[in-house]
Amino acid sequence: MKLIGPFKQIVTLANLPLRGKLSDDQLEIFENGGILIDDGKIVEIENYDYLKYFIPSDSKECEFEFIEDVQVALPAFTDSHTHICFGGNRANDFAMRNAGKTYLEIAESGGGIWSSVQHTRNASEEELLKTTLERINFLISLGITTIEIKSGYGLDVENELKMLRIIKKAQSFTKATLIPTCLSAHLKPRDFEGSNEDYLNYILEEILPKVKEENLAKRVDIFIEKSAFQPEESKAFLLQAKEMGFEITVHADQFTPGSSKIAVEVGAKSADHLEATVDEDIQFLANSETVAVALPGASLGLGEKFTPARKILDAGGILAIASDWNPGSAPMGNLVAQASILATFEKLSTAEVLAGITFRSAFALNLTDRGILEKGKKADFITFKTDNFQNVLYHQGSLKAENVFIDGEKI
Ligand code: NIG
Ligand code: FE
Repeated sequence: MKLIGPFKQIVTLANLPLRGKLSDDQLEIFENGGILIDDGKIVEIENYDYLKYFIPSDSKECEFEFIEDVQVALPAFTDSHTHICFGGNRANDFAMRNAGKTYLEIAESGGGIWSSVQHTRNASEEELLKTTLERINFLISLGITTIEIKSGYGLDVENELKMLRIIKKAQSFTKATLIPTCLSAHLKPRDFEGSNEDYLNYILEEILPKVKEENLAKRVDIFIEKSAFQPEESKAFLLQAKEMGFEITVHADQFTPGSSKIAVEVGAKSADHLEATVDEDIQFLANSETVAVALPGASLGLGEKFTPARKILDAGGILAIASDWNPGSAPMGNLVAQASILATFEKLSTAEVLAGITFRSAFALNLTDRGILEKGKKADFITFKTDNFQNVLYHQGSLKAENVFIDGEKI
């Protein structure tokens, strides 16, 4: 057993609903609290002195990790949508966008997703592993201990498997939990001979069986958009992937509406982006079990409007917030900064933002063992050197996590 504390505040996020709006007075906050841990799990959260008293002073079984300065503790964060395994860089896309070029013009002049595919295919496995781990470590430094990572820059059997194997290998170098997702349906690659439908069948027949065989991912994603895959062919693909036993997630309604509806219809765990979602579809999504994932980093990277997070919460939806960290549309990677900025524009409460990057985003990944500090949950939590938890979002990402604990161990 181990007792960690005292903390000026512990914000547990316990006893909050999975869906809908939240106000800050619903937050459970322990003043001068301690966290008692055993075997990587939380045993109890209570007043520190009470917990100390509760443990006999001669107990050899209990270690004490004393926190000397004033700190607050929160559940560690989950980033449920990233593309952090990639080669190369798209700074030129950023410059071209800011000079007024459109997505299509940038893609035609050698930028866009296809450019990242070429760089990722050409990168060595060592190089990809190294840069992926560097990005994982950056996310951990922000307090993120559960990270979803997509393939989608390989776009053929060899290179999609290469990406997913690297993500699997990265897991053996980090204590953070990595959740891989197969995004072979990111774009039909330029060197594929055949229609979109042919390519989707190729994924179903040639890629997904191998992904299953090697246990490389349990989730399948698709980019439904005018420039990528069309609604009907996507729906058929997703239903077949589901039939094969994969969980589904969708890049939906980024520029044009319509695909969040498909995500709900196929029972996707999450529909991500939603910048262009129309009001009726917000209600349809909010009535479902599909998590709506806002990606403010993509809005900031592209200069597009934000996901209607306020409307989704008011309609009773399950809202999560993720970074979408990728070399094209969302190069920043700082989820805490992005979530704070989304709060400012969408008028979200601190409780709504914290829920969106903890237990609600974990739920999008089908993980219910984390994101809340209560008995029995995984002891992944983070601390900040401050006397008030509100400072974490107030500083918009510039207040760095002081300590990151994974399974009760300081990283
Ligand atoms: O989530 N929208 C499609 N996919 C990514 C962008 C990937 C890229 O531009 O490389 C996204 O924004
Ligand atoms: Fe994405």
